Amino acid sequence: MSQIEETRQEALGELESVITADALSQWKSKFLGKKGVVGKMFGQIGGIPKEERAAFGQNVNALQKELASAFEARESLIQAQTLAQDLEEGEIDITLPARPRQMGGLHPSTRTHREFQTIWADMGFQVYQSREVEEDEINFTMLNLPPHHPARDMQDTFYTTNPNVLLRTHTSPGQIRAMRELGENGTKPIRVILPGMVYRQEQVTARSEYQFTQVEGLAIGRNIRMSDLKGTISEFAKRMYNPNAKVRYRASYFPFTEPSMEVDVECFLCGGEGCRVCKYTGWLEIAGSGMVHPTVLRNGGYDPSEWSGFAFGMGPERITMLKHGITDIRYFWGNDLRFLQQF
Ligand code: DAH
Repeated sequence: MSQIEETRQEALGELESVITADALSQWKSKFLGKKGVVGKMFGQIGGIPKEERAAFGQNVNALQKELASAFEARESLIQAQTLAQDLEEGEIDITLPARPRQMGGLHPSTRTHREFQTIWADMGFQVYQSREVEEDEINFTMLNLPPHHPARDMQDTFYTTNPNVLLRTHTSPGQIRAMRELGENGTKPIRVILPGMVYRQEQVTARSEYQFTQVEGLAIGRNIRMSDLKGTISEFAKRMYNPNAKVRYRASYFPFTEPSMEVDVECFLCGGEGCRVCKYTGWLEIAGSGMVHPTVLRNGGYDPSEWSGFAFGMGPERITMLKHGITDIRYFWGNDLRFLQQF
């Protein structure tokens, strides 16, 4: 009987210093486990004199119950303390200022394109989205650039493994697709712009990239003349650059237009006085243009004796660079956040 009392005091004493879940489970197996102290006592029952056996058994039973409930009480105490500690450590200080969230912005080229599109849309031009992966036939031959034509050298081309399929070198092939798709076999007038990415196998430098964007324009009708071309582009320049922008046209050559012209706008940085950007000429080149060549009209499904049209091609990156003082075209597609975040 005194052994039982000793064990009781020892077990309860040790339990009081138990403060972790690990130590608690060690305590449990020491006293209440199958081979634990109390278990062994049950094993002794057989060796106890008959008269004392029942009383001993009852006392060991009582001890086991007492220790078990002391264990449970301790266990819930430890759990409550652990929870309280977790809550305290994980406490969120709601008075701290929030971390700013990074916001995306529109790419500077996208902004210029949207400006272009708004102006051209106001002037009655529809946006036609043509493809970037194009057939050689449409990129060149249909635009009056047959195989081995020397003007093909003006645009070094990325070909795919299929020699008839390439990355378009300009947006002009979209003219053929727009005429064929919207012209309804050469019976309907069209007025479209064709914005998008173009690709050329060029040395990448501060001034030239192997990918850049263009905005092509095309108007086909029964009575379209050079004066329409000049009036339309001059109006665009006024809306895009400034209401008094002067525009000049210089004779040029493109295989898909006849006659062909290059379009200059008065330098919007120096107002035509002459500066470094316009190389002291007072003018900036903004477009190639011309009257659609009869062969190209025919390739688009139109009869050139009844239909005529004008076309132009512009390079928005140059305008974006001038507008924001960007000195290196490689920034545009370099995906450097330090550049992009400035817009
Ligand atoms: N496709 C020409 C180029 O990439 C630009 C161009 C010039 C487009 C004259 C035209 C045009 O539509 O009429 O250099």
